[in-house]
Amino acid sequence: MATRGKITIRTLLARKREGERFSMLTCYDYSTARLIEAAGIDSILVGDTYGEVCLGYGSTLPVTLDHLVTVTAGVRRGAPTAYLVGDMPFLSYQVSIEEAIRSAGKFMVEGGCDCVKAEVDRRHLPTVEAMSAASIPVMAHLGLRPQAVNQIGGYLAQGKKASEAKRIIEDAKMMEDAGAVALLLEAVPTEVAGVIAESTALPVIGCVSGPRCDGQVVVLHDMLGYSAGHPPRSIKPYANLHDQLIEAFQAYAADVAQGAFPLAEKSISLDADQWRELSRQLAPHKRTTE
Ligand code: KIV
Repeated sequence: MATRGKITIRTLLARKREGERFSMLTCYDYSTARLIEAAGIDSILVGDTYGEVCLGYGSTLPVTLDHLVTVTAGVRRGAPTAYLVGDMPFLSYQVSIEEAIRSAGKFMVEGGCDCVKAEVDRRHLPTVEAMSAASIPVMAHLGLRPQAVNQIGGYLAQGKKASEAKRIIEDAKMMEDAGAVALLLEAVPTEVAGVIAESTALPVIGCVSGPRCDGQVVVLHDMLGYSAGHPPRSIKPYANLHDQLIEAFQAYAADVAQGAFPLAEKSISLDADQWRELSRQLAPHKRTTE
């Protein structure tokens, strides 16, 4: 496969200008990152969904900065050219602007990402502005903000009423003016996503927000049919790893039970001389009687 150059924000901006859609997947480990890179996916998000799909939490809230920075560094080692986005966990940027800059800086320096993503609305403008002034590229995540699940009362679509939709459209413009380098829209109506994507120069990535965005992101486990729960209804399964992996695990257990794995001829063995020598050394010491 031909090697490609580094994907940067300029690449994504050019794609948008030329009307070429781009793809993003979430990823949480080095080995999978290598496959995603080999497949030519443009961008990777080390999302805080890591907490749900890899750690088994019921929400993204318990994920820590240290968790995600370590994971991000591993993903970067596997995917050196993808546009890598680190997802700022709950309370890593809400407490103070100073803490937000430190958290984002850790992602950039230790995680090796190209950009950080933060779940925001207009109340976070000073934070986005300050991070941008500190030369930290920010992807503003608008619409459904899963870190606010307890305030919202569930993972509900946002912007379904005209007044709410207008607010999200205004927030998008404010984020652009505050220096965000890209927007991510989660669970907003197609029409709202279309208005935003068509009125900004920034690349707009959609997550369950319809086909009018410049790029799309999906949670890897959902598109692979690997998730424990039910993926969003708009997700198209590209594999059925859930069933395939269970079959593989069952086949392995059956082989072990029947002695079909491991095979002696594929195992490590002593050469004949060493086996003779070992047998001699292990033979019971013969007592010589007088
Ligand atoms: O954490 C994540 O995976 C995300 C996507 C759902 C956009 O934020």
